[in-house]
Amino acid sequence: MTDAPPPEYKGPKRVFSGMQPTNGLHLGNYLGALKNWVALQNQYDCIYCIVDLHAITIEPDPKGLAGRCREVAAAYMASGVDPKKSIIFVQSAVREHSELAWIFNCVARMGWVERMTQFKDKAGKDEQRMSVGLFDYPVLQAADILLYKGTHVPVGEDQKQHLELSRDIAQKFNNDYDAPAFFPLPEPLIQGPGARIMSLRDGSKKMSKSDPSDMSRINMVDDAETIMQKIKKATTDPNPLPESAEGLKGRPEVENLVGIYSAASGRPVNEVLSEFGGKGFGVFKPALAELLASELGPIAAEMRRWNADPGALDAILRVGAERARAIAQPIMAEVRKVVGLWHA
Ligand code: TYM
Repeated sequence: MTDAPPPEYKGPKRVFSGMQPTNGLHLGNYLGALKNWVALQNQYDCIYCIVDLHAITIEPDPKGLAGRCREVAAAYMASGVDPKKSIIFVQSAVREHSELAWIFNCVARMGWVERMTQFKDKAGKDEQRMSVGLFDYPVLQAADILLYKGTHVPVGEDQKQHLELSRDIAQKFNNDYDAPAFFPLPEPLIQGPGARIMSLRDGSKKMSKSDPSDMSRINMVDDAETIMQKIKKATTDPNPLPESAEGLKGRPEVENLVGIYSAASGRPVNEVLSEFGGKGFGVFKPALAELLASELGPIAAEMRRWNADPGALDAILRVGAERARAIAQPIMAEVRKVVGLWHA
């Protein structure tokens, strides 16, 4: 006898994603996540979170944290996330995130969480000295998504493993509590060459805010001149660009720059190569830098405008938190019932 497939989740489709309020967002955050978030608003109900509880897993920063949350909210809106269509809020303003995370701590298995490569990358040789919160980070991430019964999660490729864990937690919760299809199994939306933007200096490392060299990344607030300098200095090789995607194999830095061009322009890689194939980097790099400056320039200007008005940002985040709570609280009440928690 074979097991019947689990019943299908019948609830509404809902997008959930989030970013940490760490200093300075970069091109990877923009092309890997934000740009897709904006497009998804026309198709789905979307919830976009600023995950301050995740940010405290590494370093306390009680003075700077709220300001960084505002800056990330400004980046969301400057990129085109519309607070009238989508919910934008700060994670800790909805207490149920922490509550559901605890319940999921009792569902997730040690072995599952121990497999997470991001923890290993972040901890390096210092695993024993890391906070328990950093280890538990992906369980809180599962709670973020499932507190809203999120069905689709647009992220960069580095989040793929965390999303698999979220699916495993949802499935095990549904099984353990005999609550078929209570939680959906959230699907990652990881799209195109923007999902994996690499360092400008080393094509084997992802572009990241933790890289000590600022030359390795394009920050969302970099001006046109800085972008030009960073792209010009980006590692490449002496050969011209290939005529087709096949020719990018074994040339990770070149593949990265072409991928960035493709993601920023919305044109497929082969189309980019049919324009630039056979040409040298003396032609391609300035074209890429101009493309990025024309995309990021207006966003940076809009970010500055929002950052000059923290009162307006706070008002948006307050409304966002209210709307988020209105979805989360009834779901959390159902969870408490399913789990059998005290309710006298
Ligand atoms: P965070 O803050 O590290 O990154 C935010 C988003 O940016 C994407 N990203 C990249 N995409 C392509 N290339 C890169 N080099 C690159 N660097 C970052 C990330 O994939 C992510 O989509 N754990 C999450 C935050 C989170 C979350 C959630 C996401 C907390 N709860 C619930 C989705 C759903 C994180 O640390 O993202």
